[in-house]
Amino acid sequence: MDEIVIPSALIQSLRTASRVAVLTGAGISAESGVPTFRDAQSVLWARYRPEELATPGAFKRDPRLVWEWYEWRRNLVTDAKPNLGHRSLVIMETQVPDFTLITQNVDGLHQMAGSKNVIEIHGNMHRSKCSNEGTIFDQPELYEDKPPLCPDCGAYLRPDVVWFGESLPPEALQASWESAQNCDLFLSIGTSALVEPAATLPLLAQENGAEVAEINIQETRLTPHASYFIVGSAAQVLPELVKITWQVDMSAE
Ligand code: OAD
Repeated sequence: MDEIVIPSALIQSLRTASRVAVLTGAGISAESGVPTFRDAQSVLWARYRPEELATPGAFKRDPRLVWEWYEWRRNLVTDAKPNLGHRSLVIMETQVPDFTLITQNVDGLHQMAGSKNVIEIHGNMHRSKCSNEGTIFDQPELYEDKPPLCPDCGAYLRPDVVWFGESLPPEALQASWESAQNCDLFLSIGTSALVEPAATLPLLAQENGAEVAEINIQETRLTPHASYFIVGSAAQVLPELVKITWQVDMSAE
């Protein structure tokens, strides 16, 4: 393992920050074995492009195909467990007075780890919703029909995730906007920071006076703007950050 270098100024900022906003992406779940969106195709699904399945148009054309694709993706995540990166953010939430975790991931691993204040800007694949009225239903795997029908109105249920071409849930978007605007420190973790609003949130925080720290195994479009860039995997860097900042040793748990 390469040595992880965490600037002491970042430790100081984290220790003294009243408000911290964190944005996570697929990179934090990589070490839990969750394939990223575009990695996730198997032979079975190889002839389909995710960008052509995760759309409202695809669901309209072939609801069963799209439902089965999500069923397959849900099964990939079923055995996954939160890793030390997710668990470090649970500790961080207990140490920082005002802490918000914004995630683009739909795998639910932050909540499984124990994070409380989580904003899911792209939804959650473990929930479904009525394609007509938007009513939310848990545990889609319990249904036999593919896709199941809404018990209230008979329309198809669909995964409760944001598809290409759809807008983000307005409340989640508003809440993430506010936490970015008002934080003292913004951490961008394991995201390519290409998709909106992920691309804008750290910049918005910076414009409003926050420091921005990025943790990633490689540079991204955000890196030139970040106050701190820590190269390394989330599951290695975050426990180290928590250990140095608050003397909480995750490896001892
Ligand atoms: P990406 O797949 O675009 O980027 C993953 C990022 O994680 C990359 O920058 C990697 O370098 C980094 N990475 C990989 N392994 C890592 C590790 N162990 N530790 C730290 N970093 C690591 O995923 P997202 O940025 O999450 O949207 O993608 C954003 C959105 O684009 C997704 O939510 C999805 C997709 O289209 C929707 O489905 C609406």
